[in-house]
Formats: sequence, structure tokens, C-alpha cells
Amino acid sequence: MAKGIIKNTWDRSVKITVIWLICVLTFYCFFQMALRNSSSHENANSHRPTISGRSSISHAEQRSVLYSKMAKDLEENGAVFIKQGETSQSISLSDLFTLKDETVTPILKSADPPVRANVLYLSTQYSVPISKAVKDVFLPYFDKAIWFQNSSLYHFSMFHASHHIAPVPATETEIEAEANAVKAVAESTCPLHIVLDRVVLTSTGVLLGCWQVVSGSDPVTIRAKLKAALPRAPQKQLYNEAMLHTSLARLLGPPNKLPEEESKISELQIFHDLVNRLNNQIRGLKATVSELWYVEEYDLLALAVNGNMKIRKFKLGCSEA
Ligand SMILES: *[C@@H]1O[C@H](CO)[C@@H](O)[C@H](O)[C@H]1NC(C)=O
Repeated sequence: MAKGIIKNTWDRSVKITVIWLICVLTFYCFFQMALRNSSSHENANSHRPTISGRSSISHAEQRSVLYSKMAKDLEENGAVFIKQGETSQSISLSDLFTLKDETVTPILKSADPPVRANVLYLSTQYSVPISKAVKDVFLPYFDKAIWFQNSSLYHFSMFHASHHIAPVPATETEIEAEANAVKAVAESTCPLHIVLDRVVLTSTGVLLGCWQVVSGSDPVTIRAKLKAALPRAPQKQLYNEAMLHTSLARLLGPPNKLPEEESKISELQIFHDLVNRLNNQIRGLKATVSELWYVEEYDLLALAVNGNMKIRKFKLGCSEA
């Protein structure tokens, strides 16, 4: 009898031990699998940048990062333009405009030597509806203190053969040679199919449309070709090589006096709301770019302020695959 009880107890403890062992083993296996899984994820993540290196970050990614940074600029630096803003070309906005007979008028300042800019042109087919949306959203809040980009002159700055910070004088012959070199670049460049990624307002008050490339030649490639075609151009260019942006408007001061219920909202919040409202209307808009312009700007920022200029227009000539 006693022997039987001992045997039973023995059997039970063997069973329990076996069950425990199975449990522990199973747990251990799953634990190992989980560990391996997570470490392989880590490897996958950490390998991407090391194997491919920084250069492989796609141009599209480069633009996304850049645009996010630009969108944060207003939050981080505040609305500098309410005091005194500079343009993206470090020219003070208050130097560019004046209020004449209750309308905003540009102050034309001649550029000597003329600025020679290469820009991609956005057709009015796309710019007119964008311009209308910008006006609908912003005009009620800034009836005098805003300058709208002329919708016939929406453009993406690519590369300067000469700019006001590092002027490169050129003779008529040299200018003709530059224009011919740019024409050759246009002929080997494919039309760009692009989509409006987001609208941002910089701390200097410039409202920018920031675009992504769906297909066609990338701005990085176009700038590289222009750089090779224009060896005398300033080393220091004005824009990030991946950037594809067009100015939509320039805010010149604080918003109008606000209706009662909105007067408690901060100015920064108003800017945010307006930019959001505009984004909701035009973000995702698609366009095709098919012209490269070589522009001699006889006035500073002539393309932005309807100044004097001479435009040579070249069709993008590469046949699309
Ligand atoms: C806008 O640009 C076009 C083309 O250069 C020009 O004809 C027109 O006068 C400009 N509009 C304004 C308001 O300056």
C-alpha cells in the first residue's frame, strides 16, 4: 500500500516535471524566435542606411524631409515677416513693396549685372486654379498686406547663371552661348509629371507650393546638367538640389483685424489654419512641366514682382519612354 502511494507520487512528480519541461522548452523556443525576429528587424533597419549609404536616400525622400523641415520653420522662428522678412533670396520683403494709393506695389530695383535664372515653367492651365485657391483663402485675411505671384509667371527656380549675391557679368555673346547651352539641356530633359506635396508658409512670409516628382527628369538631374552646361555659374546656388517649389504669395504684414470670435486665436494659429485650409483644397493636384526658361532679370526678383526681363523659352525635348 505504502509502496503504491510512493509510486503514485513518483509518477505524478514525473508527469509534472515533464509538463513543466515542455512548458519551459516551448517558452524558450518562442522566446528565441521572438529575439531572432526582432534582431533581424533591427538588422534590416540598421542595414539600409549602412549598405546603401546616404547618397541612396531617394531624391523624393530628400524632398519630403526638406519640405517637413520648411513646414516647421514658422513654428520655430515665428512670423519674422511681421517685423521684417527676407525672401528666400535674402532680400528684405519690405524693400520690395510699398503701399501706393491703397494697393501693394513692387519697388523695382535694377539688377546690375542682370540676374540670369533658369526656371521650369508651370503652365497657366495649372497655375490659374492654384492662384484662385490661394486668393480665396488668404485675401479675406490680408487684403492689403499680401502680394500674389502673377499666375502667368509661376515657376520653379532651378539654377542661376548669375545672381545678386555672386554676380557673373557676361557679354551679349556670352549670354547667347549660355542660352544655347540651356536649350541643349532642355532638349535632353523629359517633361516632369509632378504632384503638389504640400503648401508651406515660411517664417519670412513666403507661401510656397512644394512638389513631388511622379515621373520624368528629376530636379537633381536637371540642376546637374545646368551646372555642367554653365561652368561660369556661381558655385553657391540658392536652393537645395532636390527642391521643386514655386512661390504662390508673399505676406507683408499681420492679418486684418479679426472678427470677435477669432480675435482670441493667436496669429500663428491663424497662419496654420489658413495653410491647412489651402492644403485641403489643392494638395495632391497634378501637373506636367514641359518648358525650361532662361530668364535675364533686369530688376531684382523680376519674375516675382513683374519686373523687366527677357525670357527665352525652351520646350523639354526628351521623348518619354
Ligand atoms: C503677369 O505677367 C504677364 C506675363 O509676363 C504680363 O503680361 C501681365 O501684365 C502680368 N500681370 C501683372 C498684373 O503685372
